[in-house]
Amino acid sequence: MLGWFTQYFAGSDSRRRITPGPGETYDINRKPPPFGHPLKHYFALDDKYVNLNHGSYGSIPLPVIYAANLLAYEIDSNPDIFNRVAYKPRLVKSREAVAKLIGAEADEVVLVPNATHALNTIMRNFEWREGDLIIGATTTYGAVSNTIRYLTDRSEQPRPSMLTIVYNFPLTHAEIIELFRAKIQEAKQQHADIQFTDVPPLSPGYDTDPAEKKNKIVAVIDSITSNPGVLLPWKEMCRIAREEGVWTVIDAAHSIGQEQSINLSETKPDFWLSNCHKWLFAKRGCAVLYAPKRNQNIMKSSIPTSHEYVSPNGSKYAEVGTNFVKQHEWTGTTDETPYITVPTAIAFREWLGGEEAIYDYCHKLAMDGARRMAEVMGTKVLDESGELVATMSNVYLPLPTEKTPGEIYSPEVLAKISGLMMNKLLFEYNTYAGHFFHNGAWVSRCSAQVFNDISDFEYVGKVFNVICQEVKDTILRGICEEQQQQSGPSILNSPVEDDWVILADIDVES
Ligand SMILES: Cc1ncc(COP(=O)(O)O)c(C=O)c1O
Repeated sequence: MLGWFTQYFAGSDSRRRITPGPGETYDINRKPPPFGHPLKHYFALDDKYVNLNHGSYGSIPLPVIYAANLLAYEIDSNPDIFNRVAYKPRLVKSREAVAKLIGAEADEVVLVPNATHALNTIMRNFEWREGDLIIGATTTYGAVSNTIRYLTDRSEQPRPSMLTIVYNFPLTHAEIIELFRAKIQEAKQQHADIQFTDVPPLSPGYDTDPAEKKNKIVAVIDSITSNPGVLLPWKEMCRIAREEGVWTVIDAAHSIGQEQSINLSETKPDFWLSNCHKWLFAKRGCAVLYAPKRNQNIMKSSIPTSHEYVSPNGSKYAEVGTNFVKQHEWTGTTDETPYITVPTAIAFREWLGGEEAIYDYCHKLAMDGARRMAEVMGTKVLDESGELVATMSNVYLPLPTEKTPGEIYSPEVLAKISGLMMNKLLFEYNTYAGHFFHNGAWVSRCSAQVFNDISDFEYVGKVFNVICQEVKDTILRGICEEQQQQSGPSILNSPVEDDWVILADIDVES
């Protein structure tokens, strides 16, 4: 029996079915190429594609793709051995590796397919009562705010209610903290008749007696918002929430691999989740869900419920509780390769110089690149100070701004502009950067990654100059002419527009 087992773990013939191509492996004893375009050789990106949008979907390195392909062969060389014997020890290795990076214990960490899945697992496991409150924000990611909305919409009682903090960036961290604190206090004042005694275990007044737990407030907090890409003072927000007896669910979809010093044992959020397939370079379909041991009793079921579910009414519950980790080892048959690629992704990052070196390069590039792009477009960056920037930055686009919501941009016009930008960026200029309307202005969100350099930001700035001109000449021209006929000067001649002199020439061929 030991024969096949040893042979399997040593690597069988199946491993020899594919041989690595250029960039698919690397020599750990040799120095990697410098950060910037030379590293593109280790990514599958088209040579001519300028990717300033790592933030949306991630872009995995070739050695990770190669390892995942090898694994696919290996799994199907003997699906029974893989699924019955080999899978779980490797999953443990991935959980241990991820836990180390975020300062958690391995048994507080499980892997799920994506951030949306992790968030749903947490939010649907809370036992809601009439009178409970969920605090979100105007910048909460769409799928996440819809999850909250769904919980408040359900026809079955009990249902929580939702409160929304308005974040109009730019804001300082101090201002964000004040808005957060004020919303908690407003919630308590407005619902003075409700007893918010269901507080997290680390908050003052925590009582283990279920009869003492009446209502709760749960804050869903971004560590880094999506649009715009802004680093929030989430650690301080966790501290405030804890003092106030508010549960925290941290949507850190963008954090692992982007943010430094995520020390969850110190920060102590109640729940935390992050995609490993964005900034950590794991294969797409891998996110980490962190539930500290003190809160695992809340996580009664994985989503979907599967073999290792333990009923709180059965005798096994006293022994293993909710069985949080085991429940998540198998939630139905799926492709497990993304989970197993985590150590490969981390090893590649270590070869590149490690988390700190990667962050230092990308943060500086995010700052310098955004400034250069703003210069090219004759606009400004959203945050001069850098307080809001990890490795994504935001730059205003050269389009008219609104003083009153809706005065220029109806939802239809916004959708038209967004669609035109997407098509032009992708299909005419072979590039992509986030673009959206925030707080009365059009903004581009740019990701800085190890394969980017400043020329990518320059290129995208030039491209946006051409595209924004076309937006003004086509979509906005009609609106302006209409407005002009009705009420005088065109918005295209607005003072803001005059301030934003377009400096760049329109050579976008480079
Ligand atoms: C802040 C935030 N939360 C959640 C998600 C959802 O991630 P996924 O699509 O992997 O579930 C994203 C995706 O970009 C995000 O930016």
